[in-house]
Amino acid sequence: MNTSIDFLGVSFPNPLVLCSGYLGVTASTWDNLAKRGAGGITTKSIWLNEHQGHPNPVILANEDFIINAVGVPDAGIKKAVEEFHEYLKRANGVPLIVNIIGGKKDDFVAIAEEINKLHPQLIEVNMSCPNVEDEHGKPFATSCPDAADLTRRIKAVTDIPITIKLSPNVENIQEIAKAVVEAGADGITAINTYGPGMVIDIDSAQPILANKFGGVSGPGIKPLAIKKVFDIASAVDVPIIGMGGIKTGRDCIEMMMAGATLVGVGSALYYRGDDAFKILLDEMVEWCSANGVKRFDEIVGRTHKVLKDL
Ligand SMILES: Cc1cc2nc3c(=O)[nH]c(=O)nc-3n(C[C@H](O)[C@H](O)[C@H](O)COP(=O)(O)O)c2cc1C
Repeated sequence: MNTSIDFLGVSFPNPLVLCSGYLGVTASTWDNLAKRGAGGITTKSIWLNEHQGHPNPVILANEDFIINAVGVPDAGIKKAVEEFHEYLKRANGVPLIVNIIGGKKDDFVAIAEEINKLHPQLIEVNMSCPNVEDEHGKPFATSCPDAADLTRRIKAVTDIPITIKLSPNVENIQEIAKAVVEAGADGITAINTYGPGMVIDIDSAQPILANKFGGVSGPGIKPLAIKKVFDIASAVDVPIIGMGGIKTGRDCIEMMMAGATLVGVGSALYYRGDDAFKILLDEMVEWCSANGVKRFDEIVGRTHKVLKDL
């Protein structure tokens, strides 16, 4: 089976891309993942300047979910650029998606200008962080005017296609998706973690995370993620990178049927191990050959078509 798929004019060898924040901070790690079957690499969120994360413990994983409050630590754009450059030099055919983050719109714009010079295949904008210029510090992804304005400003400084990564923690994700697409977003990435959630150690009665609360991901959020991606695909006509609780090849097919063109592999690395990309892709190919599917793009949005024909 030819597993390649087009996303915004970029050819991906397969639809499975590394989710932001998992594993990769160095070119050699990303290259290794590419050799082990990743169809695309998303970097962790990059800040303009060095950013401190939260104190330990920052993460708890069990068979149902993962909760984290890493606080998105990062060494800043200068250090990151060296690794991006090194990865892109290798030209291994596995596209690089640079994920950017900021507390102020000016910071996002400054990072996008720097990233533009390197020409990665895509830029993903993480809008789940609090807007420090907003009176209540509301995340950009929860405000249509702020999300749209930020999209417009980033688009003005780069010719690389951008996807906006949305938070599920909003009343109406369709409104936000429409606002950023009208402002020029080329694609949508969904979803970021749910929450905040909380886990208590009953022996000490204390929260397990030092930060007390954290974002929830992993298998428990999959049906919620599928619904968000389905809703976004119903509302806008741009390609989607769908993620949230993906663990098996069947989950990937389901996410694509909901409307995703590419599928984010994050927690699956914990549940299925280092070879998760190869394992999931084999499971997808097996399902496709049993169901007469010749190319993955045949299944993108299939559920929308089926519901229309009922
Ligand atoms: C430890 C951890 C760190 C993460 N860091 C980032 C990040 O830096 N930027 C971002 O956009 N999303 C980040 N995410 C969110 C994931 O990219 C993904 O959207 C979410 O976890 C859902 O996918 P999953 O259920 O497969 O993990 C992080 C998630 C986890 C668990």
